[in-house]
Parts: sequence; C-alpha cells; structure tokens
Amino acid sequence: MKLWGGAFEEDTNKEVEKFSASMKSDIRLWDVDIKGSIAHARMLGEVGVITKDEAVIIVTGLNAVYEDIKTGRTLLNLEAEDIHSEIETNLTQKIGDVAGKLHTARSRNDQVATDTRLYLRDQVTQLSEELKALQKYFLTTAEKNLETILPGFTHMQHAQPVSLAHHLMAYYWMFQRDHERLTQSYQRINTLPLGSAALAGTGFPIDRQMVAKALNFEKVTENSLDAVSDRDFVIEFLTNGSLIMMHLSRLCEELIIWSTPEFGFVQMGDSVTTGSSIMPQKKNPDVAELIRAKVGRLYGSLMGALTLLKALPLSYNRDLQEDKHYLFEGLDTVRASTRLALIMLENTHWKIENMKKSLRGDLSNATDLADDLVKKGLPFRQAHEITGKIVNHCLKNKVILEEMTLNDLKVFSPLFDEQSLKVLPHLSVMKARACEGGTAPDAVKVQIKKAIDGSF
Ligand code: ARG
Repeated sequence: MKLWGGAFEEDTNKEVEKFSASMKSDIRLWDVDIKGSIAHARMLGEVGVITKDEAVIIVTGLNAVYEDIKTGRTLLNLEAEDIHSEIETNLTQKIGDVAGKLHTARSRNDQVATDTRLYLRDQVTQLSEELKALQKYFLTTAEKNLETILPGFTHMQHAQPVSLAHHLMAYYWMFQRDHERLTQSYQRINTLPLGSAALAGTGFPIDRQMVAKALNFEKVTENSLDAVSDRDFVIEFLTNGSLIMMHLSRLCEELIIWSTPEFGFVQMGDSVTTGSSIMPQKKNPDVAELIRAKVGRLYGSLMGALTLLKALPLSYNRDLQEDKHYLFEGLDTVRASTRLALIMLENTHWKIENMKKSLRGDLSNATDLADDLVKKGLPFRQAHEITGKIVNHCLKNKVILEEMTLNDLKVFSPLFDEQSLKVLPHLSVMKARACEGGTAPDAVKVQIKKAIDGSF
C-alpha cells in the first residue's frame, strides 16, 4: 500500500520502486516503529486530535500487529516501500480505515528519525555491555598476572620489561574511553524528533513532552528543520565505533604476531582457529585477522555517512535514507567484533614461560644500569655513555648483561657496586617502575583498583 498515491496519475516505474525502497534495510526498525506509533496515537487521543475511542482502537491494533510479527504469524513484505508503510498496511488490514488517523500530525520524516534513535539507543546500551564484558576479561586476567613479565616494545624492539597485567590493562583503558564516549553520546541520541512532522512542525495541538516521556526520551528536539535532517548522532556513533574497531585491531594485530612460532607468547585454542585445506599443521588466527580487516567496514561506513551529509540542504532529503545502510553495517560489525574478541581471548593461552625466556640477554635492563650510575651521582648523559659501552661489549661478545659479575662491570666504571647487580634482573627492572601509571605490581594494583571502583 502506497502512503502517497493521491496526486499521481501514472504508476511508479518498477525500477524506480525497487531503487527507492528501503524495506530491506529498515525492516529491523519494525518494533521501534510500532512503539513510536503507540506513543503517538495515545498522545493524539489524550489531546483530542483523535477521539479516545479511536486511540484505543489504533493502539490495540498496533499491539496486535506487534504480536503477529513477533510470533511469525505475519511475515513482513520485503517488497514494501519501507517499514513505515508496511506497518500501516498491516494496521489497516486489522482495523480498517481508522488506521489512517494514526499519521495525523506526523510525517515519515520525523518518524524515521525517531525510529533510528530508538533503535540506536538500545543498540548502544547492548554494545556498552559487550565492551564491559571485554574489559572485565582484561581486568581479571591482569589480576592474575601482576608478576608475569614480558618485553615491552617500542619500534617493535625490546624496550623495557613490563608485566602482562600492565599490557592488558592498557587495553582496558582504551575500551574504557570507548565506553565513556558511548555513554556521553547516549544523551545526544536520546532526544525526540517526533512532532517535527515533515519539516516545520504541526498546527495540531500535540504534546511532544508526553510522547517523550512515554518513549523514555530525555528531551525533545528544539528545531523541527534540524530534527528531521540531523544525522549527527549516526556519524557520532560511527566515529565511536571506528575507535572501538581501531582498538580491537591493535589487540588483534598483537595476538597475531604473538601467536607466531617466532614469538610464541600466546596460543589460540582450536575452537577459535581454523585450519588449512592443504597444510595439515596450520592453526590460523582467522578471527583476529577478520576483526583487523573489518575495521575497514567502520571507516567506510563513517566516510559514507559523512559524505552523505556533506552539503545536504535543509531539511529532509531522500539521501538520508542511506544513513541506515551505513549505521547498520557499522553497528553489526562493531558488536560482532567486540563479542568475538572476547570469545577469542577466553580461548587464548598466555605462554608466560616463553615471554620470560624472550627477555634473557635482550638488554632491556640497560636503562636501569644507567639509572644506577645516576643514583651514584653521575649525570645521566655520562651514565648513558658508559652503559652504551657495556651494551656494545655484550653485543660483540655475546655476553648476557644480567649475568655479568661485579668485576666485569667495574671495568667500565668504578662506581658499580653490589647494588648495581641487584637492578639487573628483568623482574627487578619491572618492579622498579612503581610511579603512578607504571608497570610495577603495586602501581598496577592501583590502576586495577581504580578501574574496579570507577574512581579515575
Ligand atoms: N524510508 C525513508 C527514510 O529512511 C523514510 C522517510 C521517507 N520520507 C519521504 N519524504 N519520502 O528516510
């Protein structure tokens, strides 16, 4: 059923009909569309734009349509123009002509903006929960690995040893910022455009606050032109989703590298790896690779949505229909990737012996030897120079720095003493970094506590 046939003398070209339909993407708005309509109909009845009896008939009809779809008694017509006309068609079949009163003081322009916000609001809540579950993994795994050491890297070279707890907590904080961004964006999503009608508002004495309250919107939009053409909240979501994906891709990249035999820091379980059709020995980290790859979907959707809105004149234009394509693509991808990252991690074994082994003789304790000389009064520049010479000696003669004796060290500086030997073990190096935000177990315990209390 077309909602707008009156002024038309010719039938719509079939290709045009297909080209302009959005049902295949907006079908997922079916339930929020009905919820929005119920609130609208109730309000129309309350303010007397329609009679109370009519409102009851419409609301009862909408509830019945809802049940029919939910239970599968009604299958929505995928060839329909969009979800709004399809729901109205179903309502008309149920209650007859009075269904036509539902669209009083409303347009699909404010309706679709409302539906999208209702839908996204719920999705953001679910994504926030999924992020929280992922964060919890980092938190609990960190708690168990305060003294597990591995190389910390800069430029992909061994830099200084860190604890696995510290490394995992770095991801915790990335996802914490993502979580905060989602929470902050929620307020902007949670604004009701309904009542803006096509673009200019309506002359009917509607009560927008009543609808906002019924649908749990925090406030109503201030300007009808803005309300029907604003998709900032979609772009904001895709931005936030892009950041989440970017963080996930960094994690996945590390896991892929760490699962190589050259590193051997992790082993992913059989349930989250896949085999090769030709090489029987292969257990590939495909989930991590796919998450890394799917970042492109978010960036692509974000660019698509930004381009869609660029130079778009006020107010509603059909261009805006494309927003859902980008939004849903982005949403599905970021939610699935977040869930899969957790499943992958839960089935990943941290090979802490290999982490430790990789530190032997890696010279990532050299800074601490220089610091030791500084503590004995030498300016850092000179300390750096002397330690550099020791490093060179180790490299040239295949000497393990942490296995050097005091006499070996004294060749380079008379300032070295028993204490100098104590700073050399990698565990000591890691434990020495006890400043706020450092990798020492006590400092990491503080971050973990702050993370748990939310007191940062
Ligand atoms: N399917 C449309 C969309 O997603 C609904 C609004 C249609 N409004 C219109 N004036 N044609 O944007």
